[in-house]
Amino acid sequence: MQHTISRRRSLKTIALGVAAALVGAPWRVKFVAEAQAQSAGETGVFILKLAAFPVLQNAGGSLLLQVPGMPPSFPQIVVTRKTATEVYAVDSICTHASCVVNAYFNHPTLGGIICNCHGSRYDADGRVLNGPATLPLTAYQTTFNGTDTVRIEIPGLGYRVTGVLTPVTGGNRYALSFPTVDGSQYEIRHRASLTGAESTASFATTPEGAATNTVVFGDNQEQTVYVDLPGGVGFFSVVCY
Ligand code: FES
Repeated sequence: MQHTISRRRSLKTIALGVAAALVGAPWRVKFVAEAQAQSAGETGVFILKLAAFPVLQNAGGSLLLQVPGMPPSFPQIVVTRKTATEVYAVDSICTHASCVVNAYFNHPTLGGIICNCHGSRYDADGRVLNGPATLPLTAYQTTFNGTDTVRIEIPGLGYRVTGVLTPVTGGNRYALSFPTVDGSQYEIRHRASLTGAESTASFATTPEGAATNTVVFGDNQEQTVYVDLPGGVGFFSVVCY
């Protein structure tokens, strides 16, 4: 039986939906990049779809990547497909004097993750090849399924969606904000209850605009969309393709 709740309670309901996402069940937030976080301080899983990152589709490809769901202070990671079957993810902060390293340079003898500051060179898995650095880059547990998906375990990873009630359209419009990744597209899903059927929710891109959009494109920035919630009850999730 569906019950109605007050406007104040419905805001808490969205907050509850977000909290459920953070503990991993029963809510599931898909992402490009699907971030499934446990509670704060535990290890989350960042799932990276190679189709969204062409540079990683060939051996030797590498990039610096900001992990969605981590605070802005968390450094980028260096993800490298060293061979057809080996993918590594390491921290981008040089252990010598904390400069940001480059993506992996693919070369048979001079290749590596190179720090421009003083020339330290690391292998794709973070091992030191040349100093002055003496300690490896922090490596994250990484599993490649051999075809299209890389699973990276990152301590403290949390997927973050904030929901704020806005004072328009009769009081049942929410601003949903979430981090996005360039090259990905996002949809908003709604459920009337945690066990209810999920449906695509249309949304506006301005606080007072018409809710006629169903897709928003990522740009590596925080995106905010505005969803209407007739009856003031339900849960929202963000789905990325
Ligand atoms: Fe990287 Fe010195 S900070 S080599």
